[in-house]
Amino acid sequence: MKGLILSGGFGTRLRPLTYTGAKQLIPIANKPIIYYGIEALTRVGVSEIGIVVGDTRQEVQDVVGNGERWNARIDYIPQEAPLGLAHAIKISKDFIGEEPFVMYLGDNILKDNLNYLVDQFKKNQPNALILLTEVNNPQEFGVAVVDEKGHVKKLVEKPKKPPSNLALVGIYLFDKEIFTAIENIKPSWRNELEITDAIQWLLDNNYQVESQTVVGWWKDTGKPEDIIDANLLVLEDVESDNQGKVMDSTINGRVKIGKGALVEKSIIRGPAIIGENAKIIRAYVGPFSSIGNSVTIENSEVECSVIMDGATIRNLEKRIDRSILGKNVVINQIDESPRTHKFVLGDQSYVEIIK
Ligand code: DAU
Repeated sequence: MKGLILSGGFGTRLRPLTYTGAKQLIPIANKPIIYYGIEALTRVGVSEIGIVVGDTRQEVQDVVGNGERWNARIDYIPQEAPLGLAHAIKISKDFIGEEPFVMYLGDNILKDNLNYLVDQFKKNQPNALILLTEVNNPQEFGVAVVDEKGHVKKLVEKPKKPPSNLALVGIYLFDKEIFTAIENIKPSWRNELEITDAIQWLLDNNYQVESQTVVGWWKDTGKPEDIIDANLLVLEDVESDNQGKVMDSTINGRVKIGKGALVEKSIIRGPAIIGENAKIIRAYVGPFSSIGNSVTIENSEVECSVIMDGATIRNLEKRIDRSILGKNVVINQIDESPRTHKFVLGDQSYVEIIK
């Protein structure tokens, strides 16, 4: 079985973070999102993985490499534009050949091991196996209608009036018939070849489509609040490990501290992760925080946030909560008169000042 990870697209809902980087490379617990997909595939023995890439090809390739670190072989498949999930499969035909494959959307994180899906696929040999979960906002996803026996009846992409609350999770198993389906569908109103239409074609033409439901949690990291939530869920499982230097500080709960990091006169409450060479000085880092490599937090408080590599936070009177700071961002409070704000913010940055 081969693996196909989709890492193209624009990531418009994650601007400004995606102006300077691919959304699949945003760190969750200090690890690029796409690594979770690669690890899920290699854990079930998939060692030939194709990654569909768009404009951010080079940086994805720089961060992911050739797969050696997972004992896998990774090939890159360029997509000229994000013309849909089914289009991404279509252009991967040479890579996939005749083999069945797992498609994993590069911005999805799933806690479950994929074993039960692969086992069901191998045992029943359907043409497609999809993964479903109940959500509160089905209009933002592909939605499935399933009968009382669990058979998939219908799929619709982001319906205004969702026929159910069962969303399609971004992990799919297919055999070669998906290529036949894709040959037979037309681009949707948004000019994309939709994977939901391809699976619907399989259903309409009496191919076998099975479904499974997610056991653990699943996150599509499409929006900023999803990044915070995914980070929180992944940190639930972080294990304590201290490779740095801790002086005159209190560490509560599970905290992972990277090599070369310094924690001085501070309080860290886990679950949290502190990256390599970070400096936490006279500061508080609260639960569910991921502090990247070479970050400085001095005289400030951070909780439930993702602070990316190289960022600096100094002398902030108020706590930073549920926030995402991109690479090398600087926030510095200076005691000067007149008391003004000075900002250098990229397009679509978001600042909330609570008095
Ligand atoms: O996350 C689950 C949802 O993913 C499903 O419920 C939907 O049915 C499915 O269409 C998809 O919806 P999204 O709007 O979240 O898809 P998005 O555009 O974010 O693309 C998902 C991933 O695939 C992302 O890593 C970018 C990549 N991609 C996307 C397109 C459209 C490509 O590599 N090429 C593409 O052409």
